[in-house]
Amino acid sequence: MPVINRRRFLTTTALGVAASGVQAAPAVRRGGSKPTVVASGNGLTSRNDQGISCVELAFERITRGDDVLDALIAGVNIVELDPEDTSVGFGGLPDADGVVTLDSCCMHGPKRRAGGVACLKGVRTPSLVARSVADNTDHHLLVDEGAQRFARNMGFTIEDDLNTPRSRELWLDWKRRTDAHHYPDPASRADAGFKAGLDMVAEGLIDPEHYYGTINCNGVNGAGDVCGVTTTSGLAWKIPGRVGDSPILGAGLYVDNDVGAAGSTGRGEANLYSLASFLIVEFMRQGMGPKDAGMRALERIASYTIDPRLLDEQGRPAFNVSFYVLTRTGDHAGVAFYGGEGRAFAVCDENGPRHEPFEAYYG
Ligand code: GLY
Repeated sequence: MPVINRRRFLTTTALGVAASGVQAAPAVRRGGSKPTVVASGNGLTSRNDQGISCVELAFERITRGDDVLDALIAGVNIVELDPEDTSVGFGGLPDADGVVTLDSCCMHGPKRRAGGVACLKGVRTPSLVARSVADNTDHHLLVDEGAQRFARNMGFTIEDDLNTPRSRELWLDWKRRTDAHHYPDPASRADAGFKAGLDMVAEGLIDPEHYYGTINCNGVNGAGDVCGVTTTSGLAWKIPGRVGDSPILGAGLYVDNDVGAAGSTGRGEANLYSLASFLIVEFMRQGMGPKDAGMRALERIASYTIDPRLLDEQGRPAFNVSFYVLTRTGDHAGVAFYGGEGRAFAVCDENGPRHEPFEAYYG
């Protein structure tokens, strides 16, 4: 195995950074930040028993002086536990075999620590298990049975099945549409599975924002401490074992306490090719504002989308990807390929909780 000494490491990483168009110098500023929480739209839809949403609870706890990541995770727990949200946690849409599997990761800016779980079954709140990975292990990502065993050892309740009557009913509907008997050829069966899912979105059975699921939630306190968390049941009806962008650092989430945070919802496979959350944070480090940084990342994803099956008649991506971007001073943006009616992201700051429209790359 080649030995990399520190000098060579610094040289090679500097070259790699230069080649990727990102700069290494952090734009460090401390204090004077405006406490702010941004999240995907479901961060202001699901509510707990007291009628409080994710972004409201996270903001309230941040301004009370709680640890920012604790506050954000308490917020997304509301969405994970909401049986009506079919994109996250309990009641998330299952895989092709009818099994709900969950992915999550979190990053603690000040501590520069992160943790993640993927393909976790039986725990309603994967974000708490991700946090536990960060706090109690030397690792970042635990998957499938290992993640579940770890969760059990940490005292989490493991359930046999996280389906709700609603998610089970939708899965059965999909199953009927894609009966393998009628599609013996694997390629056409895969196409049929994809098309059946899109048909269910078009028929209003599945919220378009829930087909790829997910909540991302990022926050900053008055001291400029930035954290983030992303949690999802992933793509509806996925091949068992499929993991998207959500638990992968740099893709579903990236936080740099010197700069800010970005996280995603939407087609994870597209985001993974660009590690766009990392890219957005790096663009902001170079001095771009959150909106411009997000738009540049969407431009990158669009330029990498060349497979005809993923393009619409106008040659544009036939799917949506959205990013929730926050600077360490509290500036924010929500950017997406497609915005418009019914597509908004959630914000809570000194002006209260609200939905704001996305900045849409395609107008
Ligand atoms: N962005 C969520 C997923 O693709 O799994």
